[in-house]
Amino acid sequence: MKVSILMGSPKKEGNTATLIKPLLEKLKNENIKFDYITLYDKKIKGCIGCYNCQKVNNIPGCSIDDDMKDIYNSMLSADVVVFATPIYTWFCTAPMKAVLDRSFAFGKHYDKASYNQSLLEGKKYAVIGTCGDEVAIGMESFETAMKNLSKYAKTEYIGSIGIRDINGVEDFKTKEVVEIIEEFSNQIMNKKKTWR
Ligand SMILES: Cc1cc2nc3c(=O)[nH]c(=O)nc-3n(C[C@H](O)[C@H](O)[C@H](O)COP(=O)(O)O)c2cc1C
Repeated sequence: MKVSILMGSPKKEGNTATLIKPLLEKLKNENIKFDYITLYDKKIKGCIGCYNCQKVNNIPGCSIDDDMKDIYNSMLSADVVVFATPIYTWFCTAPMKAVLDRSFAFGKHYDKASYNQSLLEGKKYAVIGTCGDEVAIGMESFETAMKNLSKYAKTEYIGSIGIRDINGVEDFKTKEVVEIIEEFSNQIMNKKKTWR
């Protein structure tokens, strides 16, 4: 089993990084392979809508030559992709949005021979978010988009957790929060049934 963790926060020791630490610990303890990719360290241009990715089957085939290559490879080699992000303006941060748009290349939509092929079929998606507003409000748009995207990409949506930032990083270290992320980590590692 392999997990690809796409980390969308610009802060290496911020709320989101702190929140996902128990997941990283569990993966290490269980000897589960994982990539931890901090997207702000990568050069990922926005999709330019050239549709060149739709002219090839079986590979992403994106025409932009940048660090998205590493992310394509990580996602393709993983069983579970975890999208971890602070909510910025009701959505994920900009580099993660670029990853989502560029993930269009995983789906082959226009060639009749491979109509609706998804190179990610059968993999699982999970979302971990932090936000300043009430979680139901802060996470709503991104969660809805990710559920739709997951269906579109023919992946299984494990679920999402969101934790609210009221007092900063200490909010993400409490026993209650650690238990929530540990429980979610068990689902990511397929140790428990999906809860949503
Ligand atoms: C530019 C910016 C936009 C934000 N937009 C929202 C928002 O729309 N909704 C929300 O609930 N919180 C919003 N927040 C709050 C962050 O999501 C929250 O503080 C988060 O925990 C920061 O995580 P980090 O320390 O990993 O960066 C915003 C913060 C910033 C800096």
